[in-house]
Amino acid sequence: MSANKIILDCDPGHDDALAILLALSSPKEINCLGITTSAGNVPLELTTKNALKVLALIKNNKIEVYKGCPKPLVGELVTAENVHGESGLDTGSGTSLPEPISSYNNKHAVNFILDTLKEAPNNEITLVATGPLTNLAAAFSIDPQTFRRAKRIVLMGGAGFEPGNITPAAEFNIYVDPFAAKSIFQSELEIFMFGLDVTHKMIITSSRLKAIKNSSNMVGPSVADLLTFFNVYDTKKYGWDGAPLHDPCTIAWLISPDIFEMKKMSVEIETNNGPAYGRTVADWFNVTNKKKNINVAINGNSDKFFELITKRLNFFD
Ligand code: BDR
Ligand code: CA
Repeated sequence: MSANKIILDCDPGHDDALAILLALSSPKEINCLGITTSAGNVPLELTTKNALKVLALIKNNKIEVYKGCPKPLVGELVTAENVHGESGLDTGSGTSLPEPISSYNNKHAVNFILDTLKEAPNNEITLVATGPLTNLAAAFSIDPQTFRRAKRIVLMGGAGFEPGNITPAAEFNIYVDPFAAKSIFQSELEIFMFGLDVTHKMIITSSRLKAIKNSSNMVGPSVADLLTFFNVYDTKKYGWDGAPLHDPCTIAWLISPDIFEMKKMSVEIETNNGPAYGRTVADWFNVTNKKKNINVAINGNSDKFFELITKRLNFFD
């Protein structure tokens, strides 16, 4: 089987960084054509710099990074420095990642997405999104015909049955730009949603953190340092044994779909102002009889997930 050709749209962010590393350590399964950045965890300038810093960590100056939209389609940007620190990639030790060894490409992320889809055969490219869906929605709005050439969208976002993590109802990525999410969820492309229902099972326990630290001489200690910081806020908030590692679920599914259980159902996005703003309303029992538009991850094997990540980090040695 040939590798999945992907564009990774992200807002690094600790767990986005892990998604990038998992993708780039898996060349047999993943062929990453480029990284596009969205505003989310921190403002766009920082998410872009952070993507470049993650590449610097693995001494990769080949993968191009394309800067995307600076704010959501509607409203002001909401960020998450409380979770990811002021830089968006703060570490437990206070040591920062190496500075970028390359600069971002001057082409806009949305143009890169559309040009890439146009040039590739129809139904070949997977769009992976681990941040707010602004860039994807902008691309869809500019040129729906080209956008629909994508094979599928695999995203981290939403919560079908789990409470929200930014409001009682909403998950962060969808909450930041629910209007973008609404247009993507209605795009009729095949969508695979990795929301809090499954990511909340992927807990970075201390033994998993230790295994990650020892996984690779080159990146293990730095990744563990990042995750040590990431664990602080969420451990306090949830009272669990560590933070949930959300974003790499998308890439892990592309590599090893057997880790996850999926169920197709209708999912709609609440965009009315009020306590449910940004909620992904998922119809488990098909009570609406609406078209089942989204493949929702409803379960996942966390041991297999962390084994995969730990093993793959060794690729960089
Ligand atoms: C999502 O929000 C961000 O803070 C994380 O990077 C992840 O994409 C989890 O709700
Ligand atoms: Ca993210």
